[in-house]
Amino acid sequence: MVKLASRMDTLPPYLFAALDERRRAVEARGVEVISLGIGDPDLPASPVVVETVQREAARAANHRYPRYDGLPAFRNAVAAYYARRFGVSLDPDREVLTVIGSKEGLAHLIWAYVEPGDIVLSPDPSYPVYHAHTGLAGGEVYALPLVAERGFLPDLAAIPEDVLTRAKLLFINYPNNPTAGVADRTFLAEAVELCRRHDILLVSDAAYVEMTLAGEPAPSVLEIPGAKDVAIEFYSLSKPFNMTGFRLGAAVGNAAAVAALGRMKNNSDSGQWNAIQYAGAAALERAPEAFFARMNEIYRKRRDKLCLGLRELGWDVPLPTATFYVWAEVPGGDDKAFASQLLEAGVVVVPGSGYGRHGQGYVRLCLTVSEEDIARVLERLGNLSPSPFTIPTARKPLL
Ligand SMILES: Cc1ncc(COP(=O)(O)O)c(C=O)c1O
Repeated sequence: MVKLASRMDTLPPYLFAALDERRRAVEARGVEVISLGIGDPDLPASPVVVETVQREAARAANHRYPRYDGLPAFRNAVAAYYARRFGVSLDPDREVLTVIGSKEGLAHLIWAYVEPGDIVLSPDPSYPVYHAHTGLAGGEVYALPLVAERGFLPDLAAIPEDVLTRAKLLFINYPNNPTAGVADRTFLAEAVELCRRHDILLVSDAAYVEMTLAGEPAPSVLEIPGAKDVAIEFYSLSKPFNMTGFRLGAAVGNAAAVAALGRMKNNSDSGQWNAIQYAGAAALERAPEAFFARMNEIYRKRRDKLCLGLRELGWDVPLPTATFYVWAEVPGGDDKAFASQLLEAGVVVVPGSGYGRHGQGYVRLCLTVSEEDIARVLERLGNLSPSPFTIPTARKPLL
């Protein structure tokens, strides 16, 4: 057997692949499983998206390689959308790049910047890709704990000077996966200022920026004056447009970072299919706000049903105000044992320790199943004997 590169030792099995395997084992025993696991919308993309792909698929011009820097129609649509939604002006040629989903873009960006000895400042818990590729590239993650007491915002002032000196990238992700934490402009400005002072590239993962369930719409980091000098942002069409399978997003912001990512990508992939980029442009141009409002309303109802139902069962979970995730502390503190117990009852939740050390003691539940399925989840959990939930003495307010 050919020996794997030693860098593969830094790579854990992908969290959701491991979870799927365990789910299949339970299903093989005849248990029907409802998954509140991976964050993959259960509802379809809009008809505009589907019709555009169908139409563009029939055009022979789209059967060829796409342009390396992305289809101008898509990049223009992203720039026009950023201007309208965030008041941010972007040059579609120098400051917007098509990515094959933001996961691809985030991973390749790390390879463009990180070399052995470099530090990457990254949240813990976090989306696993930042850590995985930093390790592969020989970099070192300096974990920024996201804890409930700080509203799941990292304490940037607590990062030691010598760490800041060696740091190349700072990842932020708001609204946040997995904690559902939200950041205001004050925090974003603090991150921009820190990166400016220490010559660090600020990487904002905005995969959930459209998914607000209460309060004001979430901001883009590029709204902060001067942010373009230090920041690149990843906008994803996956979750808000129910387009995870299409694989489409955009890297926007700092022109040098966008160009570096483009150069890395040109040598690794050949871009996203034009038909999908046309569909993305159509999605951004044709009343996306109305689509988001409908989806967020559906998630809000599901959130209320799930969270209030769990509280009835004695599990005092918080109500998220953004994303479609519920990040809940587990009774007893052992997230893996708790998730296993729920899986045996036919309910998949993700143990928080899969997202990092500070995810220990939490599980993530995703609102991507129907209200009917949520009712079935509640029934299954209510039938657990002995109940894993402690009875709270006081109910938390709704929001
Ligand atoms: C925080 C975060 N960033 C990025 C992604 C990747 O999304 P996509 O590659 O579909 O754009 C995800 C997907 O779960 C995510 O949770």
